[in-house]
Amino acid sequence: MTETLTQPTIIKADQQTADPTESFAIDVLVGMQATPKRLSSVYFYDEKGSQLFEEICDLDEYYLTRKETEILQRSAAEIIENLPINAHLVELGSGSSRKTRILLEAAMSRFDETQYSPIDISSEILESSAKDLKQHYPELKIEAIVGRYEFGLKQILQANGSSNCIMWLGSSIGNLTRKEAADFLRNIRQNIHGDDCLLLGMDLRKDADILEPAYDDKKGVTAAFNLNLLDRINGELGGQFKLDDFRHKAIYNVEEGRIEMYLVSEKDHEVHIDHFDKTIRFKENENILTEYSYKYSQSEIVDLAEASGFYLDKQWLDDSGWFSLNCFKP
Ligand code: AVJ
Repeated sequence: MTETLTQPTIIKADQQTADPTESFAIDVLVGMQATPKRLSSVYFYDEKGSQLFEEICDLDEYYLTRKETEILQRSAAEIIENLPINAHLVELGSGSSRKTRILLEAAMSRFDETQYSPIDISSEILESSAKDLKQHYPELKIEAIVGRYEFGLKQILQANGSSNCIMWLGSSIGNLTRKEAADFLRNIRQNIHGDDCLLLGMDLRKDADILEPAYDDKKGVTAAFNLNLLDRINGELGGQFKLDDFRHKAIYNVEEGRIEMYLVSEKDHEVHIDHFDKTIRFKENENILTEYSYKYSQSEIVDLAEASGFYLDKQWLDDSGWFSLNCFKP
């Protein structure tokens, strides 16, 4: 067999942004000088952070992954049935593609040819999972795209004539504010064809008693995941953070319908960051905002669809009604 039959195609879509360390440094400096202080959740996913996130997905309290898997297992055939024949499956932020396999299998049993294009910023994870998939499903056509979503999507949508199903699973949309989410989806809407669709995994609003433990687990994995941001600043920017001087906090803001994660300073103290030779002062109990994770009600899902030029065509829920998979059509 030739190489092309056994290897996935890997395309680098992004004009690589300047210097990743430098853009991290700028974001950290701006965030540490803001009031209230903040760090972006996009920086959670270095190697250690990605590993901790995989561990989070297996926690008893973190129901999201299990519920979404339940929906996919039960409804994969129906979800695929709802797509145009031979639709090209495009996935944003595919990571390890674990859950996606369920959909891919359903697609392969209905379509005579299944095309899959994962788009991810992390080339290591993307390449290894694309190779794994190709080995497991030799008949699957894989074109993996390294880069930011906008670049990757443009690349795919311009190149192919077939219908596309753009999948964004795992409630990743929850990291965007409601306004950012609508803007992001509207931008996608402007680039797709009439019979393309979106498949969005979205976590639903529910009691704080369920939500808060999902983001503050007994084993402390989420705390370690959050604190890893400081470790990353230490390692990459010569930060002098002592992890013991901060604690993890996750609260559910009912009005906004979002989990808010913070790192809280245990005491009045100062931290030097060598990279920009600056000292950051923390008051006792001062917060650093590290993540929003938005939850949606039924009407907020419908509103999001409409605000971005789509309608909610179909929705699948798990048995407890905690998580949703939504098909948006233009
Ligand atoms: C990957 C953004 C979906 O918000 O549930 C998990 C990230 N943060 N535990 C989420 C996360 C803390 C996760 N998303």
